[in-house]
Amino acid sequence: MKIHDFQRMKSENRKITMVTCYDYWSAQIIGNSRIDSILVGDSLAMVMYGHETTLSATVNIMKKHIEAVVKGAPNKFIVGDMPFCSYRKGLVETMNSVEKIMRAGAHAIKLESAEGNLELIHHIVQSGVPVMGHVGLTPQSIHALGGFKVQGKTDYQAEKIKQQALQLENAGCFAIVLECMPPDLASDITNSLRIPTIGIGAGPYTSGQILVLQDMLGMNSFTPKYLKRYLNGADLIQCALDNYVHDVKTSAYPQVEHCYEIN
Ligand code: KIV
Repeated sequence: MKIHDFQRMKSENRKITMVTCYDYWSAQIIGNSRIDSILVGDSLAMVMYGHETTLSATVNIMKKHIEAVVKGAPNKFIVGDMPFCSYRKGLVETMNSVEKIMRAGAHAIKLESAEGNLELIHHIVQSGVPVMGHVGLTPQSIHALGGFKVQGKTDYQAEKIKQQALQLENAGCFAIVLECMPPDLASDITNSLRIPTIGIGAGPYTSGQILVLQDMLGMNSFTPKYLKRYLNGADLIQCALDNYVHDVKTSAYPQVEHCYEIN
């Protein structure tokens, strides 16, 4: 997948599939799958480092994870998330962050919200860097939003989110993540935009979907309403570990076939 395929897929009514990924070995698995594109999301602060919010992700942390994912899935279109505050301290600092994310091997960046970001987005796009927008539940504003809550439930909120999406399209974004909002709002936004929308907790009418890899593989206890689990990953891994423990304790492993011979 290349940047223009996002637009093409929306025009051809073909759904875009994305997952998050933060490391080399799962990137290799995704690289061999039919997933269209990968987001190295700042959600890694929660999923990989156990923090309660995404706020502790930094550009240097993102850079390391992007490098690993690029090595594992060199054939995929990879979006690198701009972490908290990395695009809120003026143009020069923003561009320094963009430079690090792109030099790490990302093909595009993603940043949250339209408010106060439109000129920056325009500049980043003019610098040759594709930008993905993100509206609705924007986790970097978690304390202003009062928690991880569905957004756009009132007419006023819904209109505000829709206007943000339109502004992001005008500023030059190539796609927009719609996170945690009623399906009708996501549908209205998707139909009002030329560029594709990628939904998470936003119903079936978006141009594509994204899920956090560990959530969809059942690697944790996170079970929001919108999530469908495609594997009971944690159970399977625990079972494998317990089988290994059993084999070692009973000397069932290693066997002759696992041993090196003297020539
Ligand atoms: O950081 C992230 O993983 C995200 C997705 C949930 C869209 O922003």
